[in-house]
Amino acid sequence: MLSAAFLCTAFLPVPPHAEALLVRREAFQTALLGWYRTNRRRLPWREQPSLYKTVVSEFMLQQTQVKTMLPYFARWLDALPDFTALAAAEEAQVVKLWEGLGYYSRARNLHRLARDYVARPVPPRTPEDWRELPGIGPYTAAAITSITFSAPVAVVDGNVVRILARLAADATAFRDSTAAAKVLGHLADSLLNPTEPGDHNQAMMELGATVCHRQNPLCTVCPVLDFCAARRTADPEAYPSLAAKTIEARTVVRAWCRREADGALLLHCTAAASRRLAGQHELPSAEHLGIKPAALVEEGPLLATKKRSITRFAFTEPIHELPPNRVPPPLGEGLVWVTRADIETVLMTGPHRRWVRELLAR
Ligand code: ADE
Repeated sequence: MLSAAFLCTAFLPVPPHAEALLVRREAFQTALLGWYRTNRRRLPWREQPSLYKTVVSEFMLQQTQVKTMLPYFARWLDALPDFTALAAAEEAQVVKLWEGLGYYSRARNLHRLARDYVARPVPPRTPEDWRELPGIGPYTAAAITSITFSAPVAVVDGNVVRILARLAADATAFRDSTAAAKVLGHLADSLLNPTEPGDHNQAMMELGATVCHRQNPLCTVCPVLDFCAARRTADPEAYPSLAAKTIEARTVVRAWCRREADGALLLHCTAAASRRLAGQHELPSAEHLGIKPAALVEEGPLLATKKRSITRFAFTEPIHELPPNRVPPPLGEGLVWVTRADIETVLMTGPHRRWVRELLAR
């Protein structure tokens, strides 16, 4: 006989192959959980869990990989061990601890969240309560409340979307992972283990991160291979079918300018009220200096050319030496001379920190 849970979800729009999977959902959950319990990475927020560690780890893991964020997580917990310490901290300390992780609005939101959390007479528990807090979207609310309070809500991030699309061999052409998450969310909910939602969700994320890779998935060691419709096709990597991102090339010409008297470096500091990069120092662009990019290229020798990608933009950033007499006082808005002694203490974005260290070491 079919279970009540199956009858409820049987009428939701799930892809055709998913129906066979849903009939075997309990076996799927058991195989996944068994694998997770033995094979999971021993991560600090998993081995001695707490709500605070879960929240901090989930904020850090948005847009950042585990191996990158681990040292940041350790430093953060040492400096700010709980919600009370974080709520009482100065914003400058919070942002400095985040330096190099990027997407700094995450740090500011986490700080605001702690202040909101400690001010509440009743701690938030449900996904709906958590959605009211700064920086919390449906994914983070589901992760935090399922892991900490066993709320029966499925997480659907890019890794989970990939697993679901492969399990169901869903060939729908999606615009992007967010569009796919909306459609495949029903399947995620239907597969959720109702008695262990936190570990089930973490197991799905872990499977996506360590086995069900976007390219070259490790199907031979996959604990749920037996449930996967994509493995019966010639090309599991074809799922999910996401529209190729349009990449736009951009060039930003930057200046390397040292003050003659003491070797201080000219930097640009983004205004505190700015939505992106508030308070962060970077090598100034031609635009910051009020010079045409072609003129800056002419001014002095090329010291380095850096390349990086930010969202859908591929940036090329040539750094040209600029004679200090080209920036007479008063300095333009946001421009500052930073002495050698202060360079390590000012807030600087990760890539600029690396470039400045490299060029100073020459
Ligand atoms: N990505 C986001 N949250 C995660 C978690 N708890 N485990 C592994 N990867 C994650």
